[in-house]
Amino acid sequence: MIIAANWKMNPPLAEAGTLVAAYAASSHDGVTRILFPPAPYLVQMAMRLDGSGIHLGGQDCHQATAGAHTGDVAASMLAACGADRVLLGHSERRQAHGESDALVAEKAATALSGGLSVMICVGETLEQREAGDAESVVIAQLDGSVPDSIRGEQLMLAYEPVWAIGTGKVAGVEDIAAMHAAIRSWLSGRGLADVPVLYGGSVKPDNADAIFAVENVDGALVGGASLKAEDFDAICAAAGRLVATR
Ligand code: 13P
Repeated sequence: MIIAANWKMNPPLAEAGTLVAAYAASSHDGVTRILFPPAPYLVQMAMRLDGSGIHLGGQDCHQATAGAHTGDVAASMLAACGADRVLLGHSERRQAHGESDALVAEKAATALSGGLSVMICVGETLEQREAGDAESVVIAQLDGSVPDSIRGEQLMLAYEPVWAIGTGKVAGVEDIAAMHAAIRSWLSGRGLADVPVLYGGSVKPDNADAIFAVENVDGALVGGASLKAEDFDAICAAAGRLVATR
């Protein structure tokens, strides 16, 4: 099981230090933890997480390796700051920054060549789900966003229904099961059957057990609840309980 914390543009640096110290103070057998902090925090978080086994990643990178790109961050810079991976194609970037599938694929290829692995996010809007298009939208995102040449160990996927992010609404377990099965089948067709598929969108301590029990759910990408040490730890503990039953 893999539990990833996406801090987005939070919290203040002083709180980040306390939060990450709490992360590092606990461990959960069979659970891999990943932290995606804001890029300016990476070096400090890398120092604080040293020896904890918690992986670090950037929340985005540019598609170019270097150059005149004011305000952007190169994949190699993330790696130099202690990251071993990067989150790409989050719906907040697809929506607020107009990122297309092709751009996400380009960024992924650059990240891979910079020595990072990638976690690529996909997910439908409420409108798309209500129109019955959720699965075709997600499969099209996968077709367009995942580079052809990627190897399984370089990739993780996160299915995050846009309407479940930060809203407190969670997809029903049957919908999660159906989408994760469709994603698994897509992965198998690409020779990537073992790639982990995380669920994201309002994962909390009180729904984590039910979500983790769903077939083909290999963990969670956690936003809001990752900003509370106790909640994040409780979600990791739920993942640990599931591992223990296998
Ligand atoms: P919330 O857990 O706050 O819904 O955010 C999910 C998310 O977007 C993680 O990337």
